[in-house]
Amino acid sequence: MPDETAQQPPQIGINLDIHRPHSARMYDYYLGGVTNFPADREAAGRALDAFPNIRIAAHANRGFMHRSIRAIAALGVDQFLDVGTGIPTSPNLHEIAQRVNPAVRAVYADNDPIVLTHAEALLNSTPEGRTTYVQGDVRDPGTILDAAAETLDLSRPVALSMNALLHFIADRPGHGAADIVAAFTARLAPGSYLAISHFTPDFEPEATARLVEVYRNSGTEAQARTRDEIAALFHGWRVLEPGIVSTPRWRPDADIVTVTDQQASCYAAVARLDRSAPTRPV
Ligand SMILES: C[S@@+](CC[C@H](N)C(=O)[O-])C[C@H]1O[C@@H](n2cnc3c(N)ncnc32)[C@H](O)[C@@H]1O
Repeated sequence: MPDETAQQPPQIGINLDIHRPHSARMYDYYLGGVTNFPADREAAGRALDAFPNIRIAAHANRGFMHRSIRAIAALGVDQFLDVGTGIPTSPNLHEIAQRVNPAVRAVYADNDPIVLTHAEALLNSTPEGRTTYVQGDVRDPGTILDAAAETLDLSRPVALSMNALLHFIADRPGHGAADIVAAFTARLAPGSYLAISHFTPDFEPEATARLVEVYRNSGTEAQARTRDEIAALFHGWRVLEPGIVSTPRWRPDADIVTVTDQQASCYAAVARLDRSAPTRPV
């Protein structure tokens, strides 16, 4: 029986490279979406064998995104830059922030062209606010920030979110995840916020190592990081309460379904830039 809910390749002039698994489409599959192709589902099946709780982890990660964006918007921030957006999954970031303040502006960025083909779901801003989409790679912060500056005023605070993104960046001298965050930080105004969630080996080392291997074998860079390595991403930032904790433990809603640290295997934190970006030690 053909799977009638499965996504058909869109008839557009963009190469989606559907015969190779992509992290955005695998994640969409974990979340129960239909924007994925057989190669993605096969790789996602291997990922589920390696790390059986991956669907729970993906939903717990989305829950962190919802709560952190709500909290940051409630602090009065009205500009958001979301890098590694993923395939739209309702509610999207701007919908959450615009429920707090309809005038919020949000810029989305991802390097996977499939996100671009679904960008209309990200562009349904309130009339008072504005949303735009940038096709860009987090390893090229200047291009993303220059494009974002057409919608956001970078001389004012911006909330930068990098959720479930930086574990797809392997560290290389001078080009690691911390270098990338530092490059974004250097262009942000004091009073900006940074939200990061990141896969970790700290709770389930063997299953995590197997999962990283699945991604690498399917052609995607991957690196799980320890709590200390994730703390280093926040150099120059003041991490807000409750600190760097597993995604379900970050300011849980009263009615949250209990997810364990092992199931989530993902750290999350929100931080504030109190002063201008510091120079990093070399
Ligand atoms: C696991 S999804 C996370 C989606 C969303 N941020 C969330 O937390 O629900 C990771 C996303 O990062 C994107 N991504 C991976 N590497 C990237 C890169 N180098 N530059 C920009 N986006 C990237 C993928 O295309 C994918 O959409």
